[in-house]
Amino acid sequence: MKRSNSEFFIGDVPVKLLAETYGTPVYVYDEQKIRENYRRAFKAFSKHYPDFRFFYAVKACNNPAIASILKQEGAGVDAASVNEILLAKKIGLGGENVMFSGNFLSDDDIKSGLESGVIFNLDDISILPRVLKFGKPEIMSFRVNPGYGKSNVGEFVTNAGPNAKFGVHPDDVLKAYRMAKEAGIKRFGAHMMPGSCITDADYFPFITGLLMDIIGKTGKELGINFEFIDLGGGLGIPYKPGEESLDLDAAAEKAAGVFKAKVAEYGLKPPRLMMEPARYFVGNAGYIIGRVHSIKNSYKKIVGTDIGMSTLARPAMYGSYHHIYVEGKEDEKREKLGLCGQLCENTDFWVKERELPASITEGDLIIVENAGAYGYAMSYQYNGRLRPAEVLVNGQSHYLIRKRELFEDMIKNTDLPDYLKK
Ligand code: LLP
Repeated sequence: MKRSNSEFFIGDVPVKLLAETYGTPVYVYDEQKIRENYRRAFKAFSKHYPDFRFFYAVKACNNPAIASILKQEGAGVDAASVNEILLAKKIGLGGENVMFSGNFLSDDDIKSGLESGVIFNLDDISILPRVLKFGKPEIMSFRVNPGYGKSNVGEFVTNAGPNAKFGVHPDDVLKAYRMAKEAGIKRFGAHMMPGSCITDADYFPFITGLLMDIIGKTGKELGINFEFIDLGGGLGIPYKPGEESLDLDAAAEKAAGVFKAKVAEYGLKPPRLMMEPARYFVGNAGYIIGRVHSIKNSYKKIVGTDIGMSTLARPAMYGSYHHIYVEGKEDEKREKLGLCGQLCENTDFWVKERELPASITEGDLIIVENAGAYGYAMSYQYNGRLRPAEVLVNGQSHYLIRKRELFEDMIKNTDLPDYLKK
C-alpha cells in the first residue's frame, strides 16, 4: 500500500475510489505484490536448489483469480479437499500439478482423489489400506509429522508436533512406505507441514534435518528413490509494525544446505525440492477496506465498523493482530480506542485497545492490513451479515473478482416444507 499526503493507494488505485466503486467491506488484493512475493521466494530457494517447485496452498485465498496469478508464476496447487482439486482443475491445473493433502479422508474423497490423478499425500498409515481398496495412486507421499511444530499465530496453528492432528508418526513412516511399496506403488515423494507463520529462519533447516533423517533411513532401507520432498508451507510474515520479518534468503540457503547434505548422507537420488506456502505469497498483498458506521461512548469509546469477525475471523479466533489505518487521518493525534464489527457477539469486539486517530468519525474508511491469507477464505455468514466482495488491483486497473453476497445467497440452499408455508 502506498500513501500520498494522507491518502492511501492499493497498487495505483485510491482506497477511496475502491470503496466508492465496490462498497464496503471489501477485500482488495494487489496483484503486483503477489507476483513480487512469489518471485522473491522462488529465487531464494531455486538459487540453492535449482530443481525446485512451489505449490500454492489455495486454502489461504481460494479466489480463482488469485490462484491463476500463482499458476502463471509457475506454481502448482496444494489442495486440502476434493473441491480444492476441482478449483485447481477450473484454473487449468491437474495431474501432478496438484498435491492432495487432505486429512481424515472419506471413501468419497479417496475415490475422487484417485480419479483425478493428482499426487496423493496421505496423512496417516491407516488411510493406505482404504485407498488401496479403490485403486493405486500413480504417485504418492506420506505427510510425516517429525515431532516438532512452530507458529507465531500460537498453538492453534502449530500443525506439526505431538499435539497436532496431522501426519504420520515417525515410528510408522518406514512401515507406511513398505506397505505402499509392497502394494505395487512405484513412484514416491515425502511431505511435511512444519507449522504456519514462522519467522525464525533457523527453524527451517532444523525441521528439514528431522524430516530428512526419517526419509533418508526409509529410502535407504526400502530402496526407494523419492521423486520429490515437500517441506510444506509456513514461511511467515510480520503482522505488527516493527515485528521482525523472516530472513528468507537465510532460511532458503540453510534449509537447502541441510537438504543437500542429507541427500548425500543417505545416498538418495536427488529428489525435486518442493514447498507449498500460501501466507507468504498472498498475506501482505490483501487488505480489507471498511467503513465506520457509528461511534459510541459508553464504558469505553468504541468505533463500530462494517468489518466484523465474520469478515475477518483471525482476531476473534486466534487473538491475531491486524494493523489498521484510517484514511486521511494517520497523522492526527491518537487515543486508545476499541473497534468492532456489527455482530451480536462480544468476540466481534476485535480490537480492544489500539492507538487510533482520535478524530475518527462516522463515514471514515479504515484499511486492515495483511488480510490476504486466511481472510476471505475463513469468512462466513452470520447475523445476516454476508460475505464481502473481492477486488483485484493491477497497477491502475481494478477488477471485481467475487461479487458481494446478497440475501438470495443467504437462503439459496434452504427449502421450506409445504406444511410450514401456511
Ligand atoms: N500446506 C498444508 C498442508 C497446510 O495445511 C497449509 C496451511 C499450508 C500448506 C500453507 O501454510 P502457510 O504457508 O500459509 O503457513 N488459519 C491460520 C493458518 C492455518 C494454516 C493451515 N494450513 C491463520 O489464519 O493463521
